[in-house]
Amino acid sequence: MVAKNILVVDDDAKCREFIQAFLAYKGYTVSLAKDALEALTITDRGNFDLVITDLMMPGMNGLDFLKRLKARQPEVVVIVSSAFSSAESRANILEAGAYSCLDKPFDLQELDTLLQGALDHTPLLPSKTEIKSAIKNRKLMGNIIGESPKMRSLLELVEKVADSDSTALILGESGTGKELIAQAIHTLSNRKNNNFVPVNCGAIPEDLLESELFGHVKGSFTGAIANRVGRFAMADKGTLFLDEIGDMPTSLQVKLLRVLQSREIEPVGGNSSRKIDTRIIAATHQNLEELVASKLFREDLFYRLSVIPIVVPPLRERKEDIPLLAASFLKRMNDEKNRQIDGIAPDALQALCDYQWPGNIRELENLMERLVIIKGSGTITLSDLPEKFTGLIRSAPTPAAKTYALPTAGINFNDVIEEFENSLIMDALEKTQGNKKEAAELLNLKRTTLIEKLKKKNLSSPGLRFTA
Ligand SMILES: Nc1ncnc2c1ncn2[C@@H]1O[C@H](COP(=O)(O)OP(=O)(O)OP(=O)(O)O)[C@@H](O)[C@H]1O
Ligand SMILES: [Mg+2]
Repeated sequence: MVAKNILVVDDDAKCREFIQAFLAYKGYTVSLAKDALEALTITDRGNFDLVITDLMMPGMNGLDFLKRLKARQPEVVVIVSSAFSSAESRANILEAGAYSCLDKPFDLQELDTLLQGALDHTPLLPSKTEIKSAIKNRKLMGNIIGESPKMRSLLELVEKVADSDSTALILGESGTGKELIAQAIHTLSNRKNNNFVPVNCGAIPEDLLESELFGHVKGSFTGAIANRVGRFAMADKGTLFLDEIGDMPTSLQVKLLRVLQSREIEPVGGNSSRKIDTRIIAATHQNLEELVASKLFREDLFYRLSVIPIVVPPLRERKEDIPLLAASFLKRMNDEKNRQIDGIAPDALQALCDYQWPGNIRELENLMERLVIIKGSGTITLSDLPEKFTGLIRSAPTPAAKTYALPTAGINFNDVIEEFENSLIMDALEKTQGNKKEAAELLNLKRTTLIEKLKKKNLSSPGLRFTA
């Protein structure tokens, strides 16, 4: 498929480059113009599938530029970006022939969705409506970033689960965004106007967890100096997020199961129960099935909780999202820390994409924060990254390189290396019909080194015989 040509017109260099980096990553061919006049010159010269223009620019503004461009090339698709203040200006822009308006500061997901709609061959009208509803839900989903197929299907599942009011169990490695997903389910549900109450079951001492969840009555234990409302009650008509459910002590698991069955809670030391209407979303980074098998987690509770299991994939399985996430964290950190990092160099971005991210999105977020604070301005390059990233960068790949599966019985390291070396030399000599000079060149060795090796190998490996 031929890459689509996009022209970005903005008087703010950072803004231009920010969009450029994103579009280039998405596979578009990007040109830049710093003002409307330059843009008109460029569009006169070349063919563009789409133009993204800023509205407020010195000289000719975006609206006038749009009108002129449309007069010359009615077929070109134009998106106008601005910190729109009034609906009226939007209406003018759409009336002048823009495909859509895009709010500043940029929401890259929104931009991506718009581009796909705009450049797609489907009719504009229905896709616009679809886009609007997708964007509305995305906005409600807070800050969840992800365009990879895995994230898209996860977000679709989140939308469905939100409606259902069922208990949900979120599974995924540490730092993958489980809490963010739980919040999104709450925000998209009709409980959104009531509380979302998180409890980290692993962080609260065992003897306090029960009272934390169900509350207690004054005097029920030493230190219970007043009645206390528990988190279940705080989340009445809302959502209770039981994080790290795998760490919940088994004694409490029984009580939780009872509450889930009866929908009633009884405060510690109390003698009456009350009905509650709390939706439960649990999460864990542990393998609950293994915990069940080893009797550390009750099987009946596991089935109760996992009515709808939601698996959040690790970042290494959705690497397409890395540039998008990195760009968004950079932008946020720039604002929060008052810094001016303007982007990530391609080789540094490649290194970020090659890395395995054991700490997932949290690790990426922390790295971006550190880089923004330490570097402060300019572009993040490969040398700014910690060594574990640069260590992954390979020099030119060696075509002859082979992987070697180590047998369980082990090997004699020196013999294997010797054998590998011999086979490479044999191969080179065969390919060059025994010409040592050319063989040495193929191996990137000095001719004398090759000759020395041949002599040595004749002594140590009688099986190898090379002709002069
Ligand atoms: N898709 C995403 N888009 C943007 N930010 C994200 C995304 N997923 C996670 N984050 C951010 O990464 C950090 C970790 O996310 P979160 O706390 O939800 O992970 P978690 O799976 O609950 O981790 P843990 O198991 O360690 O508790 C948070 O700061 C969150 O805002
Ligand atoms: Mg968490």
